[in-house]
Amino acid sequence: MNPNNVYAGHSSEIVPTANLRVCRKERRVLTAYLGTCVGVILLDPVNQVSGLYHILLGRSNLQGHVSNELIYAESGLPLFVGEMLKNGADRENLQAVIAGGGFVGHATVNDFSLNIGGQTADHVHRFLEKEQISIIYSETGGYFNCSLTLNCFDQSFQVEPIGREFAELSVKPETLTKDEILHQIQRIKPIPQVALKIIDMINTEKASLKQIASEIRQEQVLAARVLNLCNSSFYSPGYPIDSIDRGIVLLGERRIMLLALSIITEMYFGHQSAGYSMVKGGMFIHAFQMAVTSEKIASMSGQVSRETAYTAGLLHDIGKVVLDQHMVKNQTYFYRNVYNGNKTLLEAEDELFGTTHVSTGKLLAESWHLPESLRDVIAYHHTPQLARHTPELTYIIYIADLIISRFQVGLEFDRISATPLTRALDVLGLGRDSLPEIIEFIPQNPEKFFQNSRESNS
Ligand SMILES: [Fe+2]
Ligand SMILES: [Fe+2]
Repeated sequence: MNPNNVYAGHSSEIVPTANLRVCRKERRVLTAYLGTCVGVILLDPVNQVSGLYHILLGRSNLQGHVSNELIYAESGLPLFVGEMLKNGADRENLQAVIAGGGFVGHATVNDFSLNIGGQTADHVHRFLEKEQISIIYSETGGYFNCSLTLNCFDQSFQVEPIGREFAELSVKPETLTKDEILHQIQRIKPIPQVALKIIDMINTEKASLKQIASEIRQEQVLAARVLNLCNSSFYSPGYPIDSIDRGIVLLGERRIMLLALSIITEMYFGHQSAGYSMVKGGMFIHAFQMAVTSEKIASMSGQVSRETAYTAGLLHDIGKVVLDQHMVKNQTYFYRNVYNGNKTLLEAEDELFGTTHVSTGKLLAESWHLPESLRDVIAYHHTPQLARHTPELTYIIYIADLIISRFQVGLEFDRISATPLTRALDVLGLGRDSLPEIIEFIPQNPEKFFQNSRESNS
């Protein structure tokens, strides 16, 4: 649901994962998009204070320091209650609404063992019971992504399946011919040489780091954006970084190369909010979250270099760039068909467009002469059992994509089958207990620091 359409005269805000908002009576609408995450609303109808909290996991699996307490129900819910009281609520008036924690998509054996959302919802229930906060509405579990919306003015709330706004009738898209797809690929700007050199360096270790660094220095816009990212809260070592050379000393040559590649990738995914992106820049946010999460899985598994996994995470969905214009035009029909038909993304693309983003990605990767390992990832990240060259890398990208599609709902459109999950974990030598550690590592709100870096360059 788009809150802008429904609540005229109200400002609207999306509450991202591991975030909460509390309001007194004001014309404001808060929405959380939930897959396996759990959303909680607290209301004090007497003092007219209300809030919405978007929870990632039940409790921390990490030993020691927790970087963001709002990730977990266990540490975040007491903060949420505290924030309500600070804003004028009385503890004895509090009421709760819970939603999310779904399996999402086709339910398979793997979905049930991946029932992390159910565990988070259990944590929330136990906390509310202990605090004697009554639950006035609960809609958890199920197989669909949903939105949880709170109107802070009258304290009304809604839980709705995502995709309801695509209910209107529209015309079935024309399937694309082979010529149209090739024409579209030709229109895409060729990948810059410096990006190919970075990819080559990561894959073969042949290209010279020094030479690449000097090329980044010469590309002034690129260099400035890299510096901004180096100084963002995400990467900053605590000292100002005012030149690429200093960035190399403080963060390492490889990190600088990966940041440059991230910025080049952003150029392809753009900032639009239609098509595959469901919010402004959604496709790139997904690519960046994928890069960081894939790097983490590679380091846990030890079978693939971290840099290779980061690069593959950035580029795995590059085929969506080829189809995005077609998707923009046919978005309503497409989304309606997928949500109502409960299809995977590949099934829906194949049926409605006559091709898939993995097929167009493979063609684009070939035309860019990307290495075999990356072509494999681009072609098989939804069906990793078919990968031929580097199955371990493709399984890493598959796991990251599966998890992100369920915990970072509402950014970009995807729906991935959980069937190959058992095999993926086996190939990588990872247990099921490693999943929460990976989920905790997904960067929350990366759009914020990319946005800052864009603004300071405009
Ligand atoms: Fe994909
Ligand atoms: Fe993806």
